[in-house]
Amino acid sequence: MLVSAKEMLTKAKQGKYAVGQFNINNLEWTKAILQTAQELNSPVILGVSEGAGKYMCGYTTIVGMVNGMINELGITVPVALHLDHGSYEHAKKCIEAGFSSVMFDGSHYSIEENIAKTKELVELTDKLGLSLEAEVGSIGGEEDGVIGAGECADPAECKMIADLGVTMLAAGIGNIHGKYPENWAGLSFETLDAIQQLTGDMPLVLHGGTGIPADMIKKAISLGVSKINVNTECQLSFAAATRKYVEEGKDLQGKGFDPRKLLAPGVEAIKATVKEKMELFGSVGKA
Ligand code: 13P
Repeated sequence: MLVSAKEMLTKAKQGKYAVGQFNINNLEWTKAILQTAQELNSPVILGVSEGAGKYMCGYTTIVGMVNGMINELGITVPVALHLDHGSYEHAKKCIEAGFSSVMFDGSHYSIEENIAKTKELVELTDKLGLSLEAEVGSIGGEEDGVIGAGECADPAECKMIADLGVTMLAAGIGNIHGKYPENWAGLSFETLDAIQQLTGDMPLVLHGGTGIPADMIKKAISLGVSKINVNTECQLSFAAATRKYVEEGKDLQGKGFDPRKLLAPGVEAIKATVKEKMELFGSVGKA
């Protein structure tokens, strides 16, 4: 059964570790992440972007697939199915479809509008026992080949959004999605510290988990980060393993073209990446 992310993140914040959100793209991705979480006895959050939602034939398809896998694979660790960077409309669609958690990313609105829309969703998710992630200060990343710098959120605005009763809060602290550029300045621990001072027990979310050095991840966790999002890194390891298989001509040997064989090394690579992250985040054995 899917669960809200509230309990797992409250425990993570208290226990000073973080739960990984791993974005899913298809059946193989989902299965690899669920199996790894079960094997390591770790709670896990499956992230679905709006684009990936469309790719996987809509939110109800995803809910059916994930619930089916939890049953068929005998998954007993806590699993939250979470909309990543959702619009107000898509947050509602996911709630209707049976997601157990949603993110409303109102960071591109004025703070007043972000507050108004977040507040409405707090009421809705509270009533249904679902978790809600809000965002303050946009998180940069690559768009059309240009890498935008990671913005730093205003701690006072973070407090205003946290006080609405959201479950967890994503705040820009110089992090960006995708690969970090050579000249990246690193995370702003000063901003993170100021945000945690004002928001207290609120589990904080670090987006753009790909490529952040281990020491920075550990420091971020020590300053209140309880959820870390990883997407690109699984894509990169999947692609590298698949490339190797094909370049070695394995798809041309025997039945090597069978998708169950062709995709197997990529699946193993995703598992290895997820394992490495769960160990780094400290969530192993915390289910
Ligand atoms: P990366 O793709 O950089 O790992 O970021 C993932 C993320 O933050 C999803 O919201």
